[in-house]
Amino acid sequence: MAAVPGIDPSRVPAHVAIVMDGNGRWATKRGLRRTDGHAAGEEALFDTVEGALELGIKWLTVYAFSTENWKRPPDEVRFLMGFNESILLRRRDEMHERDVRMRFIGRRDWRVPRRLIKRMDEAVELTRNNRTMTFTIAFNYGGRAEIVDAVRKIVEAGIPANKITERTIRQFLYDPEMPDPDVMIRTSGEFRISNYLLWELAYSELVFTDTLWPDFRREHLFAAVRDYQSRERRFGGIGNDVG
Ligand code: FPP
Repeated sequence: MAAVPGIDPSRVPAHVAIVMDGNGRWATKRGLRRTDGHAAGEEALFDTVEGALELGIKWLTVYAFSTENWKRPPDEVRFLMGFNESILLRRRDEMHERDVRMRFIGRRDWRVPRRLIKRMDEAVELTRNNRTMTFTIAFNYGGRAEIVDAVRKIVEAGIPANKITERTIRQFLYDPEMPDPDVMIRTSGEFRISNYLLWELAYSELVFTDTLWPDFRREHLFAAVRDYQSRERRFGGIGNDVG
């Protein structure tokens, strides 16, 4: 793990979640197609993965396709499905070599093409024993859908109402092992959560940057981690301000 200036290695966030926003605007500004913006987002993503590994971040989660993204023009949806499939094929060995474990959260059996599900399963299987970092891709993911799905599973499991606690709900989310994000980064100057990790983000620090996703690089991740480290997290308590 390399030392990164201005970052305290003992307080690196365990889990960083990212909303990769602004691909369409990046492309439009250059007179390109929106899909060219998504394609340019690939380098941003894998440079960010390298940066996360450099810092020793244990969990990285990115929003690749939301349950609301089906409303986009059919050509763009088709592109995103094919693009994700090709990324998984082209990048899985590289992730495996870096000891990265890949996981997916989202509604996998709803509208997602079979071929893509197969690629997801292959990537998960290939990397399942890796431990350096868990790279989770939120695909066909919605925070409300995740809570609805958890409630359905709790009812199906026959758990009595008076036994349901926050812990129970946590155990029935898509990945019960995934810790809550310490920090959520959203690019492109939008100040919204957009149905991302609704349950999990309850106490996360939020970092917003004007950078459009295709321009994002590991240095932007480092800047976000410095921002995070400059904040005091109180989780509803009063922290060190006890005077
Ligand atoms: C938002 O930009 C971005 C997306 C909907 C998808 C981004 C996906 C990738 C970079 C690929 C990730 C793939 C894997 C397998 C991890 P936007 O279109 O909303 O931009 P806009 O707000 O400017 O229109």
